[in-house]
Amino acid sequence: MRMIIIYQSFHHKNTEKVVNAVAPILNCEAIPLSKAKPEILADYDVIGFASGVYYAKPHVGFEKLIAKNNFQGKMCFIIATSGGPDTFYNKFHDNFRKTFTDAGFEIIDFFQCLGFDTYPAISKPFGGFAKGHPNKDDLETARLWAKKLIDKI
Ligand SMILES: Cc1cc2nc3c(=O)[nH]c(=O)nc-3n(C[C@H](O)[C@H](O)[C@H](O)COP(=O)(O)O)c2cc1C
Repeated sequence: MRMIIIYQSFHHKNTEKVVNAVAPILNCEAIPLSKAKPEILADYDVIGFASGVYYAKPHVGFEKLIAKNNFQGKMCFIIATSGGPDTFYNKFHDNFRKTFTDAGFEIIDFFQCLGFDTYPAISKPFGGFAKGHPNKDDLETARLWAKKLIDKI
């Protein structure tokens, strides 16, 4: 099984920390979205999409990356870090899932944890949201999740 993680992590590198924790366990390479070309997706059986939550969605670049192909039945997993939990007003789980299922992907699992958030800038004087995340426990939870993910593939 060829596997790759494609990630976007521009705010505080929160998502990158999670990706760096799980990639060695999954024994796969991880590349930033800026370096991912649509053509390479065909080379992999399983694709991990990892993104900070931006306006309750994955980074817009992912939609562009997967726009031109139909990935019917191709396996993917999602990793997301967010300033707050998934709620009625911050419904990012559904949006993340829809982005990839609309392109035909079969989502095998979804990992999410909090990530330090200083957006909007007005939150900075108060120390931002989710300070310190992803922390040691988040990364350990991510590693355990990755171990279980292997059994699902
Ligand atoms: C432009 C922008 C929009 C954001 N929108 C949301 C949001 O809608 N919901 C949320 O929970 N967090 C939101 N956040 C916080 C990020 O999801 C959080 O800090 C995440 O861990 C960033 O990941 P990164 O450091 O890998 O980029 C936003 C952050 C930025 C910079």
